[in-house]
Amino acid sequence: MEPGEPLVLTPPPGPKSKQRERISAEKLSEKQREISISEFFTKNRHLLGFDNASRALLTSVKEAVDNSLDACEEAGILPDLVVRIEQLAENRFKMMVEDNGPGIVKAQIPKVFGKLLYGSKFHRLRQSRGQQGIGISAAGMYGQLTTGKPVMVTSKTGKGKPAHHYHITIDTKANKPLIPHEDEFEWPDKDHGTTVEIEMEATYKGGRRSVDEYIQQVALANPHMHLTYYRPHKPPVVYPRVTPELPPETKEIKPHPYGVELGALMRLLRDSTARSLSGFLQAEFSRVSGAVAAEICKNAELSADLGVRKVGQVEAERLFKGISATKIMAPPTNCLAPIGEPAMLEGLKALLVQRHLAADEPEEREEGEGPQIALFDTKSVSAAEEKVTAALGAVTTIVEEDEEEDETEQTAEVASTEADADADAGQDVSANTKIIDVFGKSTFVTAVTRGPRVYRGNPFQVEAALAYGGDMPPEDLATVYRFANRVPLLYQQGACAMTQAVVRANWKTYDVQQSRGALPNGPLLVLVHIASVWVPFTSEAKEAVAHYDEIITELKFALQECGRRLSRHIRRRRRAAEADKKARYIEKYIPHIGMALQEILSLTDSKRDVVVDRLTTLLERSRKM
Ligand SMILES: Nc1ncnc2c1ncn2[C@@H]1O[C@H](COP(=O)(O)OP(=O)(O)O)[C@@H](O)[C@H]1O
Ligand SMILES: [Mg+2]
Repeated sequence: MEPGEPLVLTPPPGPKSKQRERISAEKLSEKQREISISEFFTKNRHLLGFDNASRALLTSVKEAVDNSLDACEEAGILPDLVVRIEQLAENRFKMMVEDNGPGIVKAQIPKVFGKLLYGSKFHRLRQSRGQQGIGISAAGMYGQLTTGKPVMVTSKTGKGKPAHHYHITIDTKANKPLIPHEDEFEWPDKDHGTTVEIEMEATYKGGRRSVDEYIQQVALANPHMHLTYYRPHKPPVVYPRVTPELPPETKEIKPHPYGVELGALMRLLRDSTARSLSGFLQAEFSRVSGAVAAEICKNAELSADLGVRKVGQVEAERLFKGISATKIMAPPTNCLAPIGEPAMLEGLKALLVQRHLAADEPEEREEGEGPQIALFDTKSVSAAEEKVTAALGAVTTIVEEDEEEDETEQTAEVASTEADADADAGQDVSANTKIIDVFGKSTFVTAVTRGPRVYRGNPFQVEAALAYGGDMPPEDLATVYRFANRVPLLYQQGACAMTQAVVRANWKTYDVQQSRGALPNGPLLVLVHIASVWVPFTSEAKEAVAHYDEIITELKFALQECGRRLSRHIRRRRRAAEADKKARYIEKYIPHIGMALQEILSLTDSKRDVVVDRLTTLLERSRKM
């Protein structure tokens, strides 16, 4: 074929396409109609975490517990929760979550539980577990879809007030609540709080990503919570409150100008009631004073007095550029409430105790086998509470002593090459690094909370903690517990930016084994947490954090600080073990030295014994130094 010759393709012989009937736009338009959000999520329930029977149970419990904790904390109440899972038939369960929160006012109850995208948290910037307003209503919808049963809600808002009880279903076509039954009654045991009950098709199993594991993790990140957990076929477990204080109150903030996108800016301008551009900027954004507003306008080459109504597309674009050209103070961070270093350590301690007790538990009994265990009575609850309280009380804590000279030098070198100069500068590390002894097994624990940072105008804060040793398997990959706004993330570990940060932390530097691109190996549990007013999840099911570089880098710094502390501990332990080995070797030869001396110096037997005794004491003393 000559260059430049046109290339003609002949279609291969095949069945001739039949003449198809053409549909007109008018005909098509007959089928076009609005899709209700509830219909959408009924069809796409996997997007919300309801794609299989065991996950559905977990997601429902999680949504209800999230709401209870959010409500308690907002109201300044130390949360006291009850989670109950009851098996009704092979694949039929009922979950119940009860809290001592502020309750929900009567008129709101149906909308909260019977309407998707209805909530109090979407429109505000402040750290909370829920965001989208499709949590608990979606769980109710799943229950309704699989069993036809309504959600049952009981709520009371104060002493002397009646409790309101509702049965609620969702009219999915209209995304509106229906109320098949409602009544009110006295609830003498309770001053305020809410109970949610949902019956659903589900399976319950233990192990990874189970409700049991979720409860353990939620207790770890919320040590200010008391929780009683009733499980199917096993006696209840109690998670006592291990820190007496509520997390600090979080304050709502306005968006920061750096986070706004052009389209959003235009909408804000359209909706604004301010008259001048300067007034608009000050009213809508955080950290914009009169002077900053003037600076933005100057950089945008617009008058600060320009009427908001006169701002068109061209002016909006200039304003948008003006914002990025202006230096603006970082947003306030009192909208965040990280767990904090001491609370993470308390949480880890309680987790190790609970894991030990769970491992010690007798096997699940088949129905009818042996004596029936009383599952739901108060006696078995107090027995469980006593057991765990005693175990927690028996834990002893040691603070490792300060470094020796040579070691400090080595660590300083690691610190400077690892590039994070501001991590923990001048901090008292021993306060958040401990060795805890749980049932005779010692575990090293340490925790780091980083200072607040900002990505795209959103303040966020990351935390990391490690537990090393104890009865964790020494060869396995590390266990990673991920949290976002104190909520455990159990699915999608591989897709999460926080897992990436753990992988990238370069554990070999810290005397921990790691294969390329994998999690570290060792008797290691890693806790990672991001607290933010708007966590960038990869999907509505809120299971993985999107890969923002700022987040990964910050978390890596936190992990590396933990790693440095761990490596000091590992090296100290190694040195102690070596010294021990040497001493035992020498000890073996002391009697022989005694005999040799007896022969050379013609000592009596008793003189020889004195020499042996002295040498042994000397060795002991040098080991302790
Ligand atoms: N146990 C509860 N106590 C008080 N308020 C609650 C409770 N559960 C839900 N709510 C209210 O119902 C709203 C909707 O809950 P949800 O559908 O889970 O959405 P989200 O938590 O994302 O806002 C919440 O924003 C909250 O105002
Ligand atoms: Mg919620």
